Amino acid sequence: MPDIANPELAEQGLNRIEYAWTEMPVLHSIMERFEKEKPLEGLILAPCLHVTTETANLMRTLKAGGAEIHLCASNPLSTQDDTAAALVEHFDVDVHAVHGADRDLYYKHINSCIDPGPNVTMDDGCDLVTTLIQKRKDKLDGVIGGTEETTTGVIRLRAMAADGVLPVPIIAVNDALTKHLFDNRYGTGQSTIDGIIRATNILLAGKTFVIAGYGWCGRGLAMRAIGQGSHVIVTEVNPVKALQAVMDGCRVMTMEEAAPIGDIFVTVTGDINVIRREHMEKMHDGAILANSGHFDVELELTALEDMASEVKRIRQNLDMYTMPDGRRLFLAGQGRLVNLAAAEGHPASVMDMSFANQALCVEYLKGHADELDTEVYPVPADIDNRVAELKLASMGVNIDTLTPEQEKYLSSWEVGT
Ligand SMILES: NC(=O)c1ccc[n+]([C@@H]2O[C@H](COP(=O)([O-])OP(=O)(O)OC[C@H]3O[C@@H](n4cnc5c(N)ncnc54)[C@H](O)[C@@H]3O)[C@@H](O)[C@H]2O)c1
Repeated sequence: MPDIANPELAEQGLNRIEYAWTEMPVLHSIMERFEKEKPLEGLILAPCLHVTTETANLMRTLKAGGAEIHLCASNPLSTQDDTAAALVEHFDVDVHAVHGADRDLYYKHINSCIDPGPNVTMDDGCDLVTTLIQKRKDKLDGVIGGTEETTTGVIRLRAMAADGVLPVPIIAVNDALTKHLFDNRYGTGQSTIDGIIRATNILLAGKTFVIAGYGWCGRGLAMRAIGQGSHVIVTEVNPVKALQAVMDGCRVMTMEEAAPIGDIFVTVTGDINVIRREHMEKMHDGAILANSGHFDVELELTALEDMASEVKRIRQNLDMYTMPDGRRLFLAGQGRLVNLAAAEGHPASVMDMSFANQALCVEYLKGHADELDTEVYPVPADIDNRVAELKLASMGVNIDTLTPEQEKYLSSWEVGT
């Protein structure tokens, strides 16, 4: 039995799912093939993903391929209740997701999706596989493999493999070029700005915008913040990434140096306690804090709570923390991924590529899982290339092909100066 907030939101959800579909031509073409070939017939899937309109279109694609689906949320604040309702009412998907679910309900939903005995897991942050290993070993037997959507999940899965506890092969969808070069960079870049603006309605032009972490997400975010007229400061722990930020025109310094001068602070590192009490103590009145990394551990929220003499929700996704000295710090989206908590996550056209990889990797696992070990695998290169080709075709963009002479030249060593 599905567990959703309100079935009456189904029509609204359907409209938004169909609208997102117009921007997802790659997934659309995969669905058309899946409908004819039914490559996922007999497969039980347990996706633990952000329950958004784009995910809904992935679910309808997987269902068209013949899969049975039990969907739960990968974050309690990103669930769109209307999308969940539409998936149940219009697409006959078993959904267990309620916006704002507390920790107990969140894990109850994950367990509900494990109960039917999945063959393939689809994680975004690795909470479902972690639950399987720690609490539900009884359901491991039928699992042939899984996929992982995000950087943080891939890090956790590699740690499991290193500890010898990873139970099944996992494909790191995050690491596909057609995923992280686009989703993490352009998707997170745009949607994080969107989340901050929706939560605060702040003008970015002229503001000092501090970004912790200059990975794929941080780079995309910096690009968009600069485009909005902000002065971008980057903090990093990796010297190469820091150097890249300098060459890209950002100021690079420590968080301690950035704390008193930043107007907006965003963490996007996948790390823990990146902005801590000692930094918050130095921030000026009105500073805004947000996180776009996967877990809500990048800002030291316990310290923020502890320091404040008063905490007040002043807008839908904005909490004001008043300090005993009168300074007010504003926290967007409760420190959870701000693009999903305060906005709608990535635009559909970028999720089109990430989710095309997901759909094709599930199909790949069905055909190849028995050839794989219990390791974290990259997305097969031909899937990555196929997704790029389909996306280019949908955009009407043609590219050149190598002539036989060029192919020979590029694979030989004899020709020199
Ligand atoms: N908001 C979203 O929708 C979204 C989308 C994709 C990924 N993510 C998440 O965002 C996070 C970053 O992903 P990514 O793909 O950019 O990862 P990445 O590995 O490419 O980059 C992370 C960067 O953070 C830096 N870093 C680590 N600890 C730091 C610290 N204490 N201070 C400053 N910098 C530090 C690392 O050196 C690295 O350059 C992950 O948690 C990932 O799961 C979120």
